[in-house]
Amino acid sequence: MGSAACVVARGRSGRDTPAGRAVGLIRRSGAEAGPQVAAPVASSAVQEFLDAIQSDASGDDLAAIPIPESYRAAHVLRSEQDMWEGVASEDKDPRQSLHVGEIATPEIAPDEVYVAMMASAINFNTVWTSIFEPLPTFGFLDRLGRESVWGARHAQDYHVVGSDGSRVVVRVGSAVRNWKPGDRVTIHCNHVDDQDPSAHNDSMLAANQRIWGFETNFGGLADLAVVKANQLMPKPSHLTWEEAAVNALCSSTSYRMLVGNHAARMKQGDVVFIWGATGGIGAYATQLVLNGGGIPVGVVSSESRVQLLQAMGCEAVIDRRAEGYQFWSDEHTQDESEWRRLGKKVRELVGEDPDIVFEHPGRSTMGASVFIAKKGGTIVTCAATSGYMIEYDNRHLWMKLKSIVSSHFANYQESWEMNRLIDRGVIQPVMSEVFTLEQTGDAALKTHRNQGEGKLGVLCLAPEAGLGITDPEKRERVGVDRITLYERHARGEL
Ligand SMILES: NC(=O)c1ccc[n+]([C@@H]2O[C@H](COP(=O)([O-])OP(=O)(O)OC[C@H]3O[C@@H](n4cnc5c(N)ncnc54)[C@H](OP(=O)(O)O)[C@@H]3O)[C@@H](O)[C@H]2O)c1
Repeated sequence: MGSAACVVARGRSGRDTPAGRAVGLIRRSGAEAGPQVAAPVASSAVQEFLDAIQSDASGDDLAAIPIPESYRAAHVLRSEQDMWEGVASEDKDPRQSLHVGEIATPEIAPDEVYVAMMASAINFNTVWTSIFEPLPTFGFLDRLGRESVWGARHAQDYHVVGSDGSRVVVRVGSAVRNWKPGDRVTIHCNHVDDQDPSAHNDSMLAANQRIWGFETNFGGLADLAVVKANQLMPKPSHLTWEEAAVNALCSSTSYRMLVGNHAARMKQGDVVFIWGATGGIGAYATQLVLNGGGIPVGVVSSESRVQLLQAMGCEAVIDRRAEGYQFWSDEHTQDESEWRRLGKKVRELVGEDPDIVFEHPGRSTMGASVFIAKKGGTIVTCAATSGYMIEYDNRHLWMKLKSIVSSHFANYQESWEMNRLIDRGVIQPVMSEVFTLEQTGDAALKTHRNQGEGKLGVLCLAPEAGLGITDPEKRERVGVDRITLYERHARGEL
């Protein structure tokens, strides 16, 4: 990771209390990220929390430990947001833009908590932030900064990234009722002001809905984090810190797309065509379809991923690279015969067209997705990794009465329901590798280059992988082999 000059940004008060702590980037690590796995190093300020958590200290003991002045966090810098002007997306290297250094601890609002971050995960949104595409995320922070006094904390010249994590509550704001210091939690990333009436039907429709750690500051790739109490969910007791940390963002997104009331609403027996079926959201989609009595048709791009998908129980698998689909004959022209070839392949595999197409690659696949969906079927989309200016043949949509349904993350209830399925051992984490916080850039690069399977975990305060399990009997019952399938595959052990 790169190093840069020290920057100090001031908060709105200079008082040395949690309620008035200055906010700013106060020290930068000059460590270069290399391929070697370094031991995770918590800054000394938060070491006391780690020691207390590891010795099973009580909530009262945790609450008595002073909140540190600063903490270690992965972040990008406003001063570098133009560093890649004119560079193609694929040539941008997140290791150059993601830094790990000390951040002055912000104060918490009455409805927020401090959590000691044991582990976190890489999501594609951290890739977007780190390559400053489609827009630098500082605009989001500035907009939040103008909204309220508490919002102003977020508008800084650095952006602490990360939208997932497992952790321990160490302090709660005065308005927090359901959580206390010592609670072990996972965090969903839906950041909503629940005093806004628009948040009270489906909070994803709230006027001020944001994704924590992407559209807000003080995200999860750090030793400490600030989150709203309404982002907390119980940590599944049979999982390690890192296994518990990787799930919430991607699994909840897939849950809303397929299961919740707001998008495709899959039923038993539905054929669901899943792009990127071993990727972050795809791997949870595959499990949700199998668990809900559907028939997944999973698409991947290598023999190794075919093997992984089959090990998950998905029988209908397409290797898009081996099949050589070319949906675009040139930059401006799609080739309908290739859509037909894909549709024929699906019929060969499962005997019918998909009731639902789980879409997220965007420009490269949307034409094919609309074409292959069954008459009356649904294309549910939450992203556009390969480009968001979409083109499809509208005749195939309206003449066949198909619907394109949009979906974005998940509300608290949907996230909670998804977390419950993981806690009950019905849906498994899909973590293939674990990185240290110092290696956040390496992990983001791997995701950017489509080289990682499922999810990549990141150790924050947790000093090593494998810690945090509080119900080993449940872990045995669920099946260690099922829980660690992606890791075992990544190690070549399947
Ligand atoms: N709206 C939301 O709330 C939300 C939430 C989570 C994620 N997302 C977005 O959803 C997208 C996927 O996220 P993720 O975490 O699943 O990413 P990921 O872990 O990188 O997996 C995506 C998979 O999609 C496949 N893929 C990529 N480009 C493709 C293309 N051009 N054509 C066909 N398949 C392609 C790849 O699988 P194969 O190469 O094996 O086919 C890849 O592994 C990202 O853009 C992310 O930002 C949105």
